Amino acid sequence: MPILYDEQRRCFHLSNDRISYIIRLAAGKYPLHLYWGRRVRAVSDDLLSRLCSYTDADFSLNETPLDSLPQECPVFGCADLCEGMLHILHADGTHALDLQYVSHQITQGKKPLRGLPSARGEHAETLTLTLLDRVSGIEVELLYTLWPDIDILARSARIVNGGASPAVLERALSACVDFEQADFSLLTLSGAWARERQIVTRPLVPGDQGTSTVRGASSAQTSPFMALLSPGTTETAGEVYAFSLCYSGSFTASVHVDQHAMARAQIGIQPFNFSWTLMPGDSFQTPEAYLCFSADGLGGMSRQFHALTHRYITTGRYARSARPLLINNWEATYFDFDEDQLLALARCAKEAGIDLFVLDDGWFGHRDADNSSLGDWYDDVRKLPHGLAGLSEKIHAMGMKFGLWVEPEMVSPDSDLYRAHPDWCIHAGGRPRTEARHQLVLDMSREDVRDYVVTQICAAFRRARVDYVKWDMNRNITMYGSARLPAQRQQELGHRYILGVYDVMRRITAQFPDVLFESCASGGGRFDFGMMCFMPQAWCSDNTDAHTRCRIQYATSLVFPPSTMGAHVSAVPNHQTGRVTPLEARAAVAMGGTYGYELDLLKLPDDELRQIASLNRRVKALQPLLLYGAFYRLKSPFEGNETAWMSVSEDRREAVVTHVFAQAQPNVRPSLLRLAGLDPSLDYREEKTGRVYGGDELMQHGIRIEKPWNDYRAQQFHLTTVSSSAPSVPSGRE
Ligand code: DGJ
Repeated sequence: MPILYDEQRRCFHLSNDRISYIIRLAAGKYPLHLYWGRRVRAVSDDLLSRLCSYTDADFSLNETPLDSLPQECPVFGCADLCEGMLHILHADGTHALDLQYVSHQITQGKKPLRGLPSARGEHAETLTLTLLDRVSGIEVELLYTLWPDIDILARSARIVNGGASPAVLERALSACVDFEQADFSLLTLSGAWARERQIVTRPLVPGDQGTSTVRGASSAQTSPFMALLSPGTTETAGEVYAFSLCYSGSFTASVHVDQHAMARAQIGIQPFNFSWTLMPGDSFQTPEAYLCFSADGLGGMSRQFHALTHRYITTGRYARSARPLLINNWEATYFDFDEDQLLALARCAKEAGIDLFVLDDGWFGHRDADNSSLGDWYDDVRKLPHGLAGLSEKIHAMGMKFGLWVEPEMVSPDSDLYRAHPDWCIHAGGRPRTEARHQLVLDMSREDVRDYVVTQICAAFRRARVDYVKWDMNRNITMYGSARLPAQRQQELGHRYILGVYDVMRRITAQFPDVLFESCASGGGRFDFGMMCFMPQAWCSDNTDAHTRCRIQYATSLVFPPSTMGAHVSAVPNHQTGRVTPLEARAAVAMGGTYGYELDLLKLPDDELRQIASLNRRVKALQPLLLYGAFYRLKSPFEGNETAWMSVSEDRREAVVTHVFAQAQPNVRPSLLRLAGLDPSLDYREEKTGRVYGGDELMQHGIRIEKPWNDYRAQQFHLTTVSSSAPSVPSGRE
C-alpha cells in the first residue's frame, strides 16, 4: 500500500485501492494540495500542470499570492491572507512564517502521539513532511497516515521550536484542506443536553462557517466533526469529504470560502482562549484528525468511520466482543437507595437474564443529592453497611457482574477533598468560584491532583472488584485558571486539562484491562474519538425516550458505530419527555446501541418481565451483528415519520432490520422499506414469518412494513440466507 514520492516531479501520491491524496512541492518548497478523492492510478502531467503557473522554478513567495493556491499547511502572515493552520507569536512580537520543505520520510506503521490518544497504525504507512521557517527556526512536521483497508487519512502536525527564542503558539490546527471548489453543503451536528447531535445541513456561502466549542469538552452542543457534501449527495450516493477530530476538548471545525470560491476546511484545537509557549527545543503535538472520503454518500462515509473505530481505535477485551447486558439503578432509585433495594433489583435483573448490575451515583461520602461528596471516594456505610466490597460480593455471588459509577474529574465544595485542597480546582484568582450542578472541576493539569485521583479511584475499583465502570463528567469549564501555571501559560490550561484527563484515563484503564469502561458526560457531552481510544462505549444521551432517541442515535451513527452507543430501555412515562412508548419500541431503539436497562424492574408487571427476559435472549443472540455489522441507515427521523436502519454481517448472509414509526396515521397503506447491503444473488428467510426473499428483491422492491395501529410502533426483521441461487418468484414466499 504505497505512499509514493516522485522525485522528478516533486510529488507525493498517497493511495490505497479506492482513494488518492496528492501533494506537490511547488518550486520544491511549498506543499500544495493537488487532489483528494477517488483513486487515480497515476499522477498525469495534466493533473500536475493544473497549478503550473505557480509551480515553475521561479516560484517566489514575494510574487505569488499563496492564498490563491490550495495548500497543505497555510499560514497567515507571508503570502497567505486567510486564517491558516498555525499562528505563532515570535519573541519580537511579529507573526510571519515562511514554512518551506526541508525533508520527508515514508515509514511503515504509525507512531503514537505524545500525550494524546490516536489510532493504531497496523498495516498503515506514514508520510512525514518537514517544513522549516529559516528566520525563526520553527519547524513543522506534517504527519499523514493511510491504511490499506479504510478510506481515511489521519493527519496531525508537530511544531518544534528550533530557534533560540521562545515562541507562542496561538493557533495550532491539525489539518487543512484547500478545495478548489465551494459548491458543497456543510453538515454538522449540533444539540444540547438530552438533544445531542442533531443533523444540520446548509450550503456553503462566502466567508466563514463551521462549528466549534469553547466549553472545554467536545460537548453536547456540537461535535468535532463536519462533512462537505457534493451537490446531490444522499445517504447512498455522492461524494463526501468528512473531518473528525480525535480530541475531547474545545475544538474548531471551519470552512472559509474565499474570493475565488475556493473552500478552506480546517479542524483542530479551538484557538480562542488557547496559547502555548514553546521554549527553544520544545515541541507541541496537535491531536489527530481523520479525513474520510466517500464516493457512496453519507452511508459510505459512516461505514468507513465505523471500520476505523473497530479496527484502529477501540482497544481491549471488549473492543470486538459481546457486551454484557446491564441494568443501571440511576432512574430506578436516583440517590435514594440502600443495599437491600439494590440487591432486590439485581436479583430480579438476574432472573430476566441481565448480566451486569451497575451502581450509579450516590454510593460515596454523604451524597444524598448532587450537592456533595465528589472527590471523597469512600463508601457511604449508611447506604451500604458492608461497603462496596460487600455489595459487589453479593452481586457476584448471584452470578452477575458488578459495575460502578464515578466522576473522577470533579470535586464538590462540600467535600473533605475540597476542604483540604481548595486550590485543586480550576478557578480564576480570588473570584467567587462558579459552580455548576454544585460542583467544581479538578485541575487535571496538576500532577498531584492526577496522582490523587488515580489512587482513590483505583482503590474504589479494587474494593468493588469492578467488571464495568461508568466514567461521568457533568459540567463544563468556566473561569479558566490554575493555581500552578504562571500568568503567561494560563491559556494552556484547556489543553493541559484534556492531556491530564487522558493521562489519568491511560493510567487507570491500564490497571484494569479486563474491565469494560463506558464514558459519559451528562449523557453524550463528550462523544468523540479521543474518549473512544480509552473506552469502547459512551452513554449516548440522558434522553432514553425511544422517539427522540431515534434522532440522537441516527445522527451519532454518522460517525460512530452502534458498539459505541450506550442505549437503555427506561420506564414510561419517560423521565425526560413524559412520553409513553411501547416496550418493543424502547427495546428496538436500545438494540441500536449497547443494550441495557435503566428502570425499576420490581415495579413492572409479570408479563412485562417475561417480555424483557425474551428480549434479552434475542439481544444476546443478535448482538455481534447488531454491534459490529456493516451499518446502513434506511429512513431518517430528520426527514419524516419513520426511522429505519439495518446491520449486515461481513459475509452478507445475515442481517437485522429495525423500523420505528413515530405517530400512527389513519387510513394509510402498508409501506415498503428498501433494504441495503445484502447479496443480490442470495435468498434470505425472515425469522418470524419464515418468508423467503431474494436479496435483489429486498433491495430493489423492499420488505413490507405493516401499517401502525399505535404510535411508536417498532418492527424488526432478522434475515438469514437459505441458498445461494437467485429466487425464482419475485415476492415473499412461505
Ligand atoms: C449524568 C449521567 O448522564 C446519568 O446517567 C447519571 O449517571 C447522572 N449523571 C448521575 O449523577
